[in-house]
Amino acid sequence: MYLWRKIAGPPWLSAHKSILEACSRRGLAIISRPKRKQLQLEIACTSRSDSRKLVKEFGGCTEKLPRDWLKRFTDGQKRKPLKIGKRLVVVRAGSDGFPAPKTFGAGKPSVLVIPASAAFGTGDHATTAMSLRLLEQLTRAWKNGWSAADLGTGTGVLAFAAKRFGAQSVVGIDIDPTAISTAKANARLNRIDGVNFHLADVRKCNPAHATDVIAANLFSDLLIEILPNFKRSGWLILSGIVRPQEGQLIAALGRTKLNVVRVKRRGKWITILARGSVGL
Ligand SMILES: C[S@@+](CC[C@H](N)C(=O)[O-])C[C@H]1O[C@@H](n2cnc3c(N)ncnc32)[C@H](O)[C@@H]1O
Repeated sequence: MYLWRKIAGPPWLSAHKSILEACSRRGLAIISRPKRKQLQLEIACTSRSDSRKLVKEFGGCTEKLPRDWLKRFTDGQKRKPLKIGKRLVVVRAGSDGFPAPKTFGAGKPSVLVIPASAAFGTGDHATTAMSLRLLEQLTRAWKNGWSAADLGTGTGVLAFAAKRFGAQSVVGIDIDPTAISTAKANARLNRIDGVNFHLADVRKCNPAHATDVIAANLFSDLLIEILPNFKRSGWLILSGIVRPQEGQLIAALGRTKLNVVRVKRRGKWITILARGSVGL
């Protein structure tokens, strides 16, 4: 495998993008870095002559990749396990096999294995990590047996965390069939029973009634639209909100008579813990 590389500015790219995409069979990678105008362009070629043709026609350079380039790349992608308080560790499965999922044992944290997949939610993203931490802190002193709903469940990570923190009934909802099948596969992988995953639009279903905690890692406009459904809910963990929309979200919570208890911020993201009129 050979890698063609070129550093170019946006005007050069727009003049050559369609031809590069055509000759790479849509395999052109465009890498932009924060605070840099120049872009790095890359095309993987199966032969030396193809990569040399690119250099001849468009400039740049080519390099031969080591035989084990894929393994080196995936090893580089391995991330540290994500610790959530003292009760949970989320492990993104690596290329060398999955660590065995475990439940609580003698004061040790429970391990959840969430392989990277087409669905969102390995815990890498700030919105998921902040939601997991709020869920852990909120439920730390709760007696087992409470109920939870995970709206926009993705891989199911928040639903599984709720189960591991002591929830009895848990519902996970997503509009994307791939997310629902991934979440079900992750339930089997982690040997977690009793999470009901439903393929549905959160606008059209209302699991809020008598639910102790609802986690919704969605986006601001959708959260504002569905907030009236949560009037009679217990606790809410709302995530996927960008900082400029914090004011709008907090105003919408006020209109719905939901009280803001805590706001967590990380980078451009915020996560809100709010409280409805019922529940624990
Ligand atoms: C940001 S991801 C969150 C995934 C996971 N809960 C987490 O915290 O990592 C948002 C998820 O919401 C789902 N979603 C978006 N709009 C939806 C809707 N109207 N109804 C149900 N699910 C929706 C997406 O398919 C996606 O899986």
